[in-house]
Amino acid sequence: MNSFWQEKTAMIAHLNEVDQVIGKQLTVKQRKMNEILQDLASSGGKRIRPGLCIIGAGFGSKPIESIYPLAAVLEMLHLATLVHDDIIDDATHRRGALTTQQKYGKDYAVYTGDYIFTKCFEILAENYELHHMKELSKAVSRVCVGEIEQFDGRFKSHTSVKKYLKIVGAKTSALLATSLAVGAYEAGCDERFCKKLGKIGLHVGNAFQIIDDILDYTGDEARVGKTLGNDLKQGYYTLPLIYALRKNDSVLNRLLAADVYDDETIKRIIVRVNELGGVRQAQLLAEKYTIKSLKEISSLPTCQSRDDLEWITKRLLVREH
Ligand code: IPE
Ligand code: IPE
Ligand code: MG
Ligand code: MG
Repeated sequence: MNSFWQEKTAMIAHLNEVDQVIGKQLTVKQRKMNEILQDLASSGGKRIRPGLCIIGAGFGSKPIESIYPLAAVLEMLHLATLVHDDIIDDATHRRGALTTQQKYGKDYAVYTGDYIFTKCFEILAENYELHHMKELSKAVSRVCVGEIEQFDGRFKSHTSVKKYLKIVGAKTSALLATSLAVGAYEAGCDERFCKKLGKIGLHVGNAFQIIDDILDYTGDEARVGKTLGNDLKQGYYTLPLIYALRKNDSVLNRLLAADVYDDETIKRIIVRVNELGGVRQAQLLAEKYTIKSLKEISSLPTCQSRDDLEWITKRLLVREH
């Protein structure tokens, strides 16, 4: 069972259906490819994007069943970006297991990500009007641009909160926002309403990524299921560190100037960033985005989807993985 959604039994039932679609779509004849794809399909994950898509659709009037393939595509797009992200980040673990690159090698991992992307476009073309293809393509291009900007900025200690938020908006929030908005659009909501949901999704996404970055500083590796401290190792200076850098602390500056960030250096940077209040300040900004989202959510029509959106917005702030 998907533990993230806990008591949300109706949502868990929908997501199980979405998982069926994913499992089926990621079944291929080629033995090796099938092994890798099935491994990924059953690797778990919180299913936030399909969940948001279903929540968005709940504001409309179409039967939810017609949304399942779209929700599956959103998770598959996310999955493909994760496989590629883990190659770039040299990550060894994801969802509590070895990453695709770690288990099968880089070549298979690149092909697998590519295959999942193309499969997504096939599902969209077969089931939906062009609108979704356009919106999802835009969201994925934003993810790519965000990842490239982040990569370009490695080891730069003069980075700013503004720059960080621009990257987050592109690499993470865009896909969350699109998930909500296309779900609503498919269910017949008008464009203005979809845009409003999209805006909420951007704020929820910002809070979500800030928490993800905080977990890199405070999380329990076994619980998070990913290699922690890895952002730093790769030279990604995320929000807790950006705030800590504002203190112009000589200990932190010396640690960051090291040629290589070995495990000991990473540990010490993490401790220092915590001591300088970087994590605390990042937490406050995540809370600010959450409060902003909740305020906007309260102006939506009263319905189950509004309750669910409020629930997930709060849930994302207190997660441990
Ligand atoms: C991880 O996303 C990548 C980010 C955008 C932070 P999730 O935290 O949604 O990952 P899964 O799907 O639950 O594994
Ligand atoms: C999110 O970035 C990944 C994508 C948007 C593809 P991160 O690199 O921070 O995500 P994790 O921490 O590896 O899950
Ligand atoms: Mg990563
Ligand atoms: Mg991360």
